[in-house]
Formats: sequence, C-alpha cells, structure tokens
Amino acid sequence: MHRPEFPLPAVLAHRCGGTLAPENTLAGFVAAVTNGCRGVEFDVMLNGSASPVLIHDESLERTTNGYGPVAHTTDDVLFALDAGAWFDPRFAGEPVPSLDLAAARCQALGLAANIEIKPSRGTDAETAERVVRRVRTLWAATPDKVLLSSFSERALEIAATLAPGLRRGLLVEAVPADWLVRCRRLRAASLHADHRHLDPACVAAVREAGLWVATYTVNDPGRAATLFEWGVDCVITDRPDIVRPPRR
Ligand code: G3P
Ligand code: MG
Repeated sequence: MHRPEFPLPAVLAHRCGGTLAPENTLAGFVAAVTNGCRGVEFDVMLNGSASPVLIHDESLERTTNGYGPVAHTTDDVLFALDAGAWFDPRFAGEPVPSLDLAAARCQALGLAANIEIKPSRGTDAETAERVVRRVRTLWAATPDKVLLSSFSERALEIAATLAPGLRRGLLVEAVPADWLVRCRRLRAASLHADHRHLDPACVAAVREAGLWVATYTVNDPGRAATLFEWGVDCVITDRPDIVRPPRR
C-alpha cells in the first residue's frame, strides 16, 4: 500500500522538551529547538474554565505548586501557578501554558506538534470537541504541522468528525490484536505504541497497512536507531539532545 512520508519530524520531544525542561511548558519548546529538535509532543486537558491547557496529570500536585484536580481549577487560578520550580529553581515562574500560547510559540519556533488529547475522567467528548475546534483554528494555515493523538477512541472519533483534514494517531501501550480494525474505524493515519511492545513484524504489518508508526518513550540513541531500522517513522523521546533522526 502507498505510504506517503511521515509529515512531522522523525524525532519529537516528549511533553515539550523531554527531561531537559519542566514537562509541558514553553521552556520545553525552547529546549527542544536549542537541541536541534524540530517537533514536540504535548498533552492537552480542559481546566475548570473549559480552556485547553498543557498538562499531563489530572491533578496539579506533581508538576505545579497548586493542589487539586485540573478540571476544577479555573483560568484565574491555573494560569497563576508555577509549573517550573518543582523541576529546577532556574525554571521558577514557568506557567501552565494555554493551547493558544503553545500554538503561537510552536509556530514562532518552527516546531511541528503532536497534540495528545488527554481527557480527564469522563470528559472525553467535551475535551475532544474543545481541543479539536481550537486546533483547527490555531493551525488553520499549517494543518500539516500538527498530528492529533489520543488513548481515547471517543476523542479520536470526534476529531475525525469535526476536523477530518487534521491527521489522527491512535495511542496504545501494547498493540492490540484488532489494531487495524480500530485504526480504520477512526480513520487514523498512525499508530503510536510503547516501543517495549514493538517488534519488526508488527512494525512491518502496520506499515503494510499504509499507516505510520510512532513510538514512545525512547531515550537511548541505540534503541532509536534499531526502531528506525525496523521502519518506525517517529520516535518520541525525553532526550531530544541525544536521540537523532535516521540518515535516510
Ligand atoms: O504520546 C506519547 C506519550 O506521551 C503517551 O504517554 O503518559 O507520556 O502522555 P504519556
Ligand atoms: Mg503524552
């Protein structure tokens, strides 16, 4: 089956800048670019004002100086939090970015974006609707620079309906036996799996179905080279300073 070239860079920095900066912050974008990385993956969830924001956990404690569920924290409180000091005092004052701010910064830095729709529990439909509508607007001029992904198939279904022109990837840990049925139903362009569950035959089968293969979270350059040899199209890494794209 014909497989066009993967439209994003072959190496994406995980949660904006991997472990070079606090996760899901604008400082991460700068760290990625500074290390020669041209694309980023980040997580988007709705806060208590239904604004899409960059954060991984459903609660604020691990990555900010706030407390409680993201879904109950409104703009005025959330955007005043510090999302950098927990990582290193050098990053004190880094905010939790809105999706709008992230889009502007990615575009200014020339970064492609794999946007992971990460609904908090029970909010798959609302999160997908709001995130996809916003992405459609924010990347209207450069839709090829964005790839939506999610573990939530409900979110991907909604994305397919609201923005069929934006590419989508199905996120899984292990590759399920019915991966092709699921990807076809969602009209997904890519399958994103944990690299520990991939093998050459699985990568070949996904490629033969005309889909791209992305994998996470690959922090060893030798392992990344092996995965690229198998035919993986994209590696998501915490070490964008040392994991490099293949020479093709
Ligand atoms: O998109 C790949 C990866 O980010 C999925 O896992 O938990 O880091 O969002 P997680
Ligand atoms: Mg993620």
